Amino acid sequence: MRPQDIIAIKRDGGELSDELIGKFVDGVCDKSWADYQISALVMAMFIRGLSTREGETLVREMLNSGEILDFSEIAMPKADKHSTGGVGDKTSLIIAPLVASCGVAVPMVSGRGLGHTGGTLDKLESIPGYNVRLSTSEFHAIVGKCGFAMTGQTAEIAPADKKLYALRDATATVPYIPLIVASIMSKKLAEGLDVLVLDVKTGSGAFMESEKDAAELARAMVATGERFNVKTQAVISDMSQPLGKYVGNAVEVYECIKILRNEIEPAAEPTWELSLELSARMLVLADVESDLDSARQLCVSKIKSGEALERFCRNIECQSGDPTVCDDPDKLLDPNITTISIKAGKEGVVTAVDTLAIGNAVSEIGGGRVKADETIDHAVGFASDIKIGDRIDAGGELGRLYVRNEEQASSVSPRFVSAYSVDACLDIKRPDLIRNVIG
Ligand code: URA
Repeated sequence: MRPQDIIAIKRDGGELSDELIGKFVDGVCDKSWADYQISALVMAMFIRGLSTREGETLVREMLNSGEILDFSEIAMPKADKHSTGGVGDKTSLIIAPLVASCGVAVPMVSGRGLGHTGGTLDKLESIPGYNVRLSTSEFHAIVGKCGFAMTGQTAEIAPADKKLYALRDATATVPYIPLIVASIMSKKLAEGLDVLVLDVKTGSGAFMESEKDAAELARAMVATGERFNVKTQAVISDMSQPLGKYVGNAVEVYECIKILRNEIEPAAEPTWELSLELSARMLVLADVESDLDSARQLCVSKIKSGEALERFCRNIECQSGDPTVCDDPDKLLDPNITTISIKAGKEGVVTAVDTLAIGNAVSEIGGGRVKADETIDHAVGFASDIKIGDRIDAGGELGRLYVRNEEQASSVSPRFVSAYSVDACLDIKRPDLIRNVIG
């Protein structure tokens, strides 16, 4: 059947057979379908919808469009965490060494930042020399040696998604749950995991802003993971303000190393709280611990003993980075950076934070990228000790900008000030970090 005949079935509201979905994914990979034909079918799927069976087949075909990693040579359960992305969302850098130090292998395939969200690979590259472009054999060897490794997606993992995601981004067809599920889960299921914990964000800096949409996405991803025999759970977590203290690349790695060193600043507590929750769930699903309380205790003991930090240090060495940043995290901070204080215009209580605006402003000063091929400045960023519900004086410090020069600061400072809603009389409770657990 020709691409236009397959497109016509979905255009008219019909169901696509498994065979036709397979033909579509093959056509994406072997380039026999033109971009306009792929985009037309994706738009028809977006408008007409996909049945549960069609969605599942799409995941399977996208997964099978590439390599599925096999870590069976490692005699430990394999687990990973995936986050739908946010601002200051840095938990991977804590979870991977922590969970590995508890006896679960973490073969983590991560992405780069795009738009207002950061990416684990960019953060890791703030560690001098750190290599995130591992070959499959290097990836296996480092997981074997350190219990975890962190690398970028190779061209062999779910190749159909690379093309489809780029076209969806350009044709306004990203926000449809079955397409999102197929995109995320085809990549995650290719890691050869036993366990997957999903961190689905909700709030002003999240891709799924409302809690209802976040829960719907979480339920669909959990059901897909289970159908593919991966024990899957989703935590719905708060992204109505940046997670923890820092937003940026080097500064976020700094926050994580401080946490691994058990030197947790008060504003970084939420980063630790969420990392602990996700790690503990990974350990329970992997049957390393029987309940969440004992899993949390095990994690805390690995931080206190320094074993989680030692894992990270060993991994940095294996991935060609400078492990001395673990002993001296200040080394991550560029001495040529200027810090500028962002001050509140009036007295009151912080009632809301426009997290998207903060992510976009950090991206604009070079901390992120608008297009996938842009380079970034790892040293710039933002730090804040102020959370929703905190009281602030007029002229009090909302946060500090890490910038290259004064001009950069003056162009974005007003956006940081206006990102914080300060109200004179309201008394607002800080939003719960963990909203719901699914699965
Ligand atoms: N992230 C992905 O990897 N895919 C989507 O479709 C949306 C977010």
